[in-house]
Amino acid sequence: MTNITASGVITCKAAVVRKSGEPLVVEAIEVDPPKSSEIRIKMQCASMCHTDILCCNGLPVPLFPRIPGHEGVGVIESVGDNVTSLKPGDTVMPLYLGECGECLNCSSGKTNLCHKYPLGFSGLMSDGTSRMSVGGVQIYHHFSCSTWSEYIVVEANYAVKVDPRVSLPHASFLCCGFTTGFGSTWREITIEKGSTVAVIGLGAVGLGAVKGAQMHGASKIIGIDINEMKHEKAKKFGITEFINPKLSDKSVSELIKEATGGLGVDFCFECTGVPALLNEAIEGSKVGLGTVVFIGAGLNKSGELNYIPLLCGRTVRGSIYGGVRTQTDLPQIVEKCVNKEIDLDELITHEVTLDEINKGFEYMKEPDNVKVVIKF
Ligand SMILES: NC(=O)c1ccc[n+]([C@@H]2O[C@H](COP(=O)([O-])OP(=O)(O)OC[C@H]3O[C@@H](n4cnc5c(N)ncnc54)[C@H](O)[C@@H]3O)[C@@H](O)[C@H]2O)c1
Ligand SMILES: [Zn+2]
Ligand SMILES: [Zn+2]
Repeated sequence: MTNITASGVITCKAAVVRKSGEPLVVEAIEVDPPKSSEIRIKMQCASMCHTDILCCNGLPVPLFPRIPGHEGVGVIESVGDNVTSLKPGDTVMPLYLGECGECLNCSSGKTNLCHKYPLGFSGLMSDGTSRMSVGGVQIYHHFSCSTWSEYIVVEANYAVKVDPRVSLPHASFLCCGFTTGFGSTWREITIEKGSTVAVIGLGAVGLGAVKGAQMHGASKIIGIDINEMKHEKAKKFGITEFINPKLSDKSVSELIKEATGGLGVDFCFECTGVPALLNEAIEGSKVGLGTVVFIGAGLNKSGELNYIPLLCGRTVRGSIYGGVRTQTDLPQIVEKCVNKEIDLDELITHEVTLDEINKGFEYMKEPDNVKVVIKF
């Protein structure tokens, strides 16, 4: 159904969420040409992340109508006048963080949260407008992208050129879930060889943390999930043992301590977003030495952190995209996929077309689900 007008506006199909919690509607939208520092991408493949469910439910900001999706890969169709780093025909990953390399945060080398190209919650481009509309009515972006559309416009700095040898679904997964977990073991904190690790929640994020811990030489990697089917899956990424808290009366922290001679782990990654597990992650880490990384996006604010266990020498770090700098670090992870140090085929459990997007949400509820791939 793609159509391009003389003014450069493309009409194409996209999945639009019109009201909080409602099914998506696949409909024709208009996508403007890119402005001077922007690029327009023809999407080839996208995928679904748990955070897309939050987006469709109006979290953290209720902006409707909106096009979700923040994982995907495509080919550049056109570029704005001032774009020199990328050109039409390049295969790129559109991302939700940019990296200027020069601001206070980028210069520190300690964080991926750039001041110039931040994680955007306004649903609009940096000039305060959208590039997508239906009949003249603006549609909000999701973060800086909105990958569930045949064409999208992003700021060039938010896109990274991909090694063409990487498979399209793998490139798509690297735009959020897997990289977030993997990066948190490498860029957010560094796991030392021989250390003990617990990963709570074994979705794509948790499996990324497991793989990262394995590659950093952790001696014990405890995978924790209430879904028994995650046991075999997580073994393939490197867990050394599995705990299903549903099969015990004990708390998650008690179970972690039981598996570590009473001490707790050196590093604990919270990858579920369940608020009650934040304190469990803290208490499951070692007194005086433990580091906890909060990754899950639990938006229930009623969960309070227990102060005393924190006072006892533990460190807590929050993480967006695993601390991975999009321009500097991400290509190194893509490289690891190309040379098969990391194999992401195991993450693919379901495939849908863009027209079947609501079926994708159903698949996300199935026990064997890890990743739904969207084919264009
Ligand atoms: N911080 C970031 O940058 C970032 C990026 C991506 C995703 N996220 C968030 O990370 C979380 C995980 O994302 P995902 O895509 O891997 O989700 P997912 O739903 O695929 O995986 C979550 C896993 O946690 C398990 N789980 C749920 N409740 C549990 C409990 N009480 N105890 C133990 N295990 C439990 C589920 O069975 C599932 O296997 C989500 O909250 C998501 O929004 C954050
Ligand atoms: Zn910067
Ligand atoms: Zn995500």
